[in-house]
Amino acid sequence: MSSPLLGVLVLLGACHHETASGGPPPPGSSGGLGAQLQALAQRMHARYGGAQRLEEAIARSDLPRAHTEAHTVSLLDEPDVLPTWRPYFEAVAETARQLETSGDITAAAKLFGTLGVRCAHCHDASGARLVLPPPSVLAAGSATMAEHQKAALEMWEGLMAPSDVHWRAGALALTTVPLTMVAQAVTPSSEQDVDDVAKVRLYARRALDAGDHEARAEVFGSLLATCAHCHALLRDR
Ligand code: HEC
Ligand code: HEC
Repeated sequence: MSSPLLGVLVLLGACHHETASGGPPPPGSSGGLGAQLQALAQRMHARYGGAQRLEEAIARSDLPRAHTEAHTVSLLDEPDVLPTWRPYFEAVAETARQLETSGDITAAAKLFGTLGVRCAHCHDASGARLVLPPPSVLAAGSATMAEHQKAALEMWEGLMAPSDVHWRAGALALTTVPLTMVAQAVTPSSEQDVDDVAKVRLYARRALDAGDHEARAEVFGSLLATCAHCHALLRDR
């Protein structure tokens, strides 16, 4: 609980110092700094929660809800941060706004991948060290949807933190999704369902090879679009 706050403090404190030594104090940095930092940490949590809900809405192929959640993420502004960091927040907000008006779930899934890289860019640039819980141990061949969801979120955390360990743990779990998965579910199977399972495995394998943020964002978008495709198919049947 205290460590992220400390991180924000170190980051903004360092920047403040840099700027203050060369000229007038940057706007917004004077007075109530403690309160501002606390607010920033809280909003970071809110942004994270909003992004998680967005992921689930997209995975479930619920475009209206995805639009609503994207709107929430787009509103998370940081008026008090130093100018250096504004472009990073604006990049996140811009992607969220694009997502809010995306015309179909595949486009939304791709944009969600982009959102993750935008988060990662600032975490990289600011040297932010996110303290994530260790990846949960997912059984190889995880079959339940709760496990799919967990694995996908693990990958998302790996993308935005960024964290290699989380990215790979999530991807690895999805490389072995049993092809008979849908037969085990309540709904009858079809050729297309099997295609989607095969695609999940394929993208998960590609995810293990994807080294940089952009490649990861792209493969994550394709993966999430596949989750959404199967759910839409089953729902509209
Ligand atoms: C302008 C820079 C910036 C942007 C953009 C940004 N972050 Fe952060 N984030 C930070 C900093 C700085 C920290 C503090 C890290 C630390 O504790 O050292 C942080 C911390 C976090 C944390 C950890 C918070 C905690 O209390 O444990 C999460 C989660 C997080 N960010 C998620 C996101 C997500 C999701 C996005 C994109 C939707 C995002 N961030 C975009 C700078 C940014
Ligand atoms: C081949 C079809 C198929 C694919 C691919 C698929 N799912 Fe599902 N999903 C289902 C079915 C069927 C259900 C409903 C029955 C169930 O919960 O097992 C479901 C339900 C869910 C639920 C709701 C579970 C609940 O408890 O309400 C979530 C969340 C979910 N899937 C996430 C994912 C994610 C994330 C992916 C992609 C990594 C994915 N699914 C890929 C078929 C699929």
